[in-house]
Amino acid sequence: KEDIITLAIESSCDETACAILKNGREVLTNIISTQIETHKKFGGVVPEVASRKHIENIDIVVQEALDESGLGFDDITHIAVTYGPGLVGALLVGLSYAKSLAFTLNKDLVGVNHIEGHLSANYIEHKDLKPPFITLIVSGGHTHLVEVKDYGVYEILGKTKDDASGEAFDKVARALGLGYPGGPIVDQMAKKGNPEAIDFPRACLHENDYDFSFSGIKSSVLNYLNSMKMKKKEVVVEDVCASFQAAVVDVLTQKAIKACKDKGYKTITLSGGVAANSALREKMSELCKKEGLDLKYPPMILCTDNAAMIGAAGYYRYINGRRDGMDLNAVPNLKI
Ligand code: KG4
Ligand code: ZN
Repeated sequence: KEDIITLAIESSCDETACAILKNGREVLTNIISTQIETHKKFGGVVPEVASRKHIENIDIVVQEALDESGLGFDDITHIAVTYGPGLVGALLVGLSYAKSLAFTLNKDLVGVNHIEGHLSANYIEHKDLKPPFITLIVSGGHTHLVEVKDYGVYEILGKTKDDASGEAFDKVARALGLGYPGGPIVDQMAKKGNPEAIDFPRACLHENDYDFSFSGIKSSVLNYLNSMKMKKKEVVVEDVCASFQAAVVDVLTQKAIKACKDKGYKTITLSGGVAANSALREKMSELCKKEGLDLKYPPMILCTDNAAMIGAAGYYRYINGRRDGMDLNAVPNLKI
């Protein structure tokens, strides 16, 4: 049987990325050009600036991926590209590039949902992982608890009713003056703090569903900071980070484990930028061990945005017969 070589492109937010995969799970090359330094001074991603940066970088990133893999365009079986969800201008850069490649090279085009990409990062790292399983997708834009019934067959069990978990990390970091992106900094600061110092609310924890809410936790951190300021009391930033993180992690872990047990599955996977969080990984490992569940998560580099995960998702779509035409458009609010 001939190998299937996937060239994948991702440009939905602030990373311009290209990866090349063999048979969906073997990453030959994974090039990521991040714009974090550019957006840092604005305290968050500026959509217009992101689009311009993608235009500057896309060609370089694709060429680098080909060079590093030692492959040429002739060796590519199909092109996979993120077409949503994400920033429309940013998505359009990668999508237009992918479409022109597919058209000129006469290769099949497969559009990929970015959220499906995130969960597919686990297929790369864990070669024996097969559906069905429960997955918790936690990123800057999404917080989804999903039942993966088969490749490409999903049922959303729950999601956030307001802010995404990563968004809460970013907003709390901003309020503490810690910079962007907030997740990694809060994670580091929390290591030196006491997670029981402040009792932030665990929203939705005792409700009998799988939905989340993080804007309440974020607001109570802001209220706490304001009240400390009014009282002219000193804020221990490390304690705020540790206590906030503990509240978020508590809700995420307990709901994910409940879903896994309720549905009778044995495996939980984590994915998305927040899956890089050390407290989430630790707490989840501890609870899964206690419950006899198998926990899997990708390495850090495959948690945050990358094209390898898009390639893995695109490969399964491809072998399941999905093809897209030149009319494929960017869908900023695409659902999984
Ligand atoms: O998956 P991702 O790169 O982009 C989206 O699709 O949204 O996720 C980025 C998000 C940011 O909100 C960032 O603060 C968060 O992931 N993040 C973390 C950590 N590393 C990244 N959050 C908590 N702890 C971390 N170590
Ligand atoms: Zn993402």
